[in-house]
Order: sequence, then C-alpha cells, then structure tokens
Amino acid sequence: MFKIRTMNKISPIGLDLFPRDKYEVASEIPNPDAILVRSADLHSVEIPDTVLAIARAGAGYNNVPVDACSSRGIAVFNTPGGNANAVKELAITAMLLSSRNIIGGINWCRTIADKADEVPDLVEKGKSKFEGPELKGKTLGVVGLGAIGVMVANDAVALGMQVIGHDPYISVEAAWNLSRAVVRADTLEGLLAKSDYITLHLPLADTTKGLLDAEKFRFMKKDARIINLARGGLVNEGDIIDALNAEWLAAYVTDFPSAELLACPKVISIPHLGASTPEAEDNCAVMAVQQIMDFLESGAIKNA
Ligand code: MLT
Repeated sequence: MFKIRTMNKISPIGLDLFPRDKYEVASEIPNPDAILVRSADLHSVEIPDTVLAIARAGAGYNNVPVDACSSRGIAVFNTPGGNANAVKELAITAMLLSSRNIIGGINWCRTIADKADEVPDLVEKGKSKFEGPELKGKTLGVVGLGAIGVMVANDAVALGMQVIGHDPYISVEAAWNLSRAVVRADTLEGLLAKSDYITLHLPLADTTKGLLDAEKFRFMKKDARIINLARGGLVNEGDIIDALNAEWLAAYVTDFPSAELLACPKVISIPHLGASTPEAEDNCAVMAVQQIMDFLESGAIKNA
C-alpha cells in the first residue's frame, strides 16, 4: 500500500482517483510515500524520510523547499495551467475593479440604503464620483508569459486592449505560438514605460523577488495600475505604498494583503482568491494525484 499524506483540503475529484486497494490517503498518516499540498508552508515542516514525492496542487511552489527536497532525492511536482483560467478571470476582473471604482460605488450605495425616496436622486448626484476609464484602447503589459499570462493576453486583446509581453525565462516567440493574441514583445523597462495596466504572472524566486520597486516605478506612466495575483514578494511593498501615496500610481490590486497594504486606500486587496474556484481546485487536484500515481507506480516524471 502507498501512503499519501494530505496537508490541505484537496478536491475529492482528485483524491477519488487513488485506488483504495493500493493507496491509503489521510492528513495524519505516518511514514507517507508522498505528500499532497496546496498552500501549507512546508519550509518549517519536518518531511519524513519515507517521502519520495511532493505534489503541489497549484502553479507556484514557493511553499515547498524545492532545493532541500532535490538534495534528498524527493521529486517535487506542481500543476501549471490547472488553475490558469481561474486566475485569468480574476486578472480581468481586477483590471475592471481598479478602473471603474466598482468597490467604492458598491460601498457608497450601502450608505444610502436607508434614504428611501431619495435614493434615485442621490444616485444621479453621486455617480460622478465613481467615474473611471474603460479598458478598450489602453495598453496592458503582461509580465510572465506562461499559461496564465498568455490567457490574460488573449482576453485583453478581445477587450480591445493593446498587449505588450515580457518574460525573463521563455522566449516571447514561444509564448506567442501559444497565444492567438496580437502582442508585441518588449524589455521590462519598455513594457513598464508604455503600459496603462501591468499584470504579473511570474513565480517568486531569488531573481524575481522585488521585481517591481521604486526604481521600476519611475519608468511607469503616471496613473498606471498594477495587478498582482502571482506572489506578493514580486512587488516591493514599501515602495508601492509610497508610489501610491505620492499619486504616481493609480492603483495596486493584490491577492496578497498585508497590514500595511490594507491601510493604503489605493490598494485593492483580495484574500488569495486567484485559484479559488471549484473548477481550478478539481483540475489541480486531478493533475497532482495523477503525477503522484505515475511517479510512485512507474517512476514517471511529467513535471518536476
Ligand atoms: C497557485 O500558486 O497556483 C495558487 O497560489 C494556488 C492556490 O491558491 O492554492
């Protein structure tokens, strides 16, 4: 029997793929052969010597100590693409949220809810406060051209945006082959200088930590908006708060709130909802479970 330890709630659509005559699956199981994890941080968790593989049901794997696992011969898997559509939909939503003052408008409507007959009048008088620009005709800079970045680029083109792309790891040509979007490639600095919206779709690594900081903000258009559904550490938090307070940038939408960001009125904070759809959870769980079974049963490594 193979033993699988689950470190988070994993979709039953995935877990049910384990044949019960061959696999025991539980959160507290001793001496597991493999670990299935979503967002639990494994850096501070003792990984038993019996573990041969760790699968992360998600795209980012910075919650897994990959180098330490590799030196112990533990295979590490992630599920790129499994939640790409969910993140893409939130990225498009984030651009709209940051432009059209939707949250401010909704909150304001609640404040007039008890004004009964005056509501139509108040709406007519109040609505000008919440005006905001359309996406059509604006330029979107997509930093990171993996599964998610390419999907965002495609949909942004469908919304009438011009799209510029940059990726520090893969050639832009390779990304364009995956994309039906009409997208121009640029350096990071060139992309920042031309974009009205910048959306980040990169993993957090030593080379990407603090990718956007005060120095980079200086390249950017005044009133640009930054969307970060990838990892909080890609953006220098103190620097972006300063840039927002100095009215250099118009908005920062982040899926990674902190006390400092929550205190800044121009930050729109989302509680790490990028991949939180039942569809994405099912996809990632199925991919992660399949990877573990392939590896334990035949040594196959499809992504490590
Ligand atoms: C990811 O890296 O794909 C997400 O962080 C997944 C999640 O929300 O668990």
